Amino acid sequence: MASSEKACTIWFTGLPSSGKSTISVLVENEIGTRGRNVEVLDGDVVRTNLSKGLGFSKEDRDTNIKRIGFVCHLLTRNGAFAISAAISPYREIRDEVREMIGDFVEVFVDCPLEVCIKRDVKGLYKKAISGEIKEFTGISDPYEEPLNPEITVKTGDETPQESATKIIAKLEELGYLSQQGNTVDSGHAEELATVTL
Ligand code: ADX
Repeated sequence: MASSEKACTIWFTGLPSSGKSTISVLVENEIGTRGRNVEVLDGDVVRTNLSKGLGFSKEDRDTNIKRIGFVCHLLTRNGAFAISAAISPYREIRDEVREMIGDFVEVFVDCPLEVCIKRDVKGLYKKAISGEIKEFTGISDPYEEPLNPEITVKTGDETPQESATKIIAKLEELGYLSQQGNTVDSGHAEELATVTL
């Protein structure tokens, strides 16, 4: 069913512990519920297989993002939604991936650094602040916010469900997902077409 419908890549970007993985799973579930093919490429998961061995220098991060972007490109052009949930800290490389994919919806997971540090889901901020981990995004490595993301979710204020709902609404608005309830309308459209014929 899905392959004839247009899909897109949903590209999350944000600091560690900003909520990318949590929201990506909620969005994945909703898209799946609607009968569409969807795959999540999560930063941590990708780094244990596709990008195994890469570190966190700018060069390695760029390689990681290009690999994720390439897989997203393959999926999206085959009618599947691809969701990237990597930090992807560099604007230029995100824009390069956007160019390649075309159907690209960037989601800025905007969360104040203090809130991310407080959450510290994996305890890595603590280690970065003490100097145990080098080149840690937000502490000792840069994070470049997107200038024109299609969607910004404020995860310091919103619940993950609220953020996911916002994203789904935007995908409907952009025509990648049909509006819920439209099945009834398209039924009518077929009836009308029959009458006209
Ligand atoms: S990216 O910069 O290349 O996009 P990616 O999202 O794949 O990063 O990986 C980030 C994950 O790696 C973090 O969630 C964290 O668990 C782990 N990590 C380990 N070291 C670092 C570091 N120096 N900077 C950022 N994340 C790190």
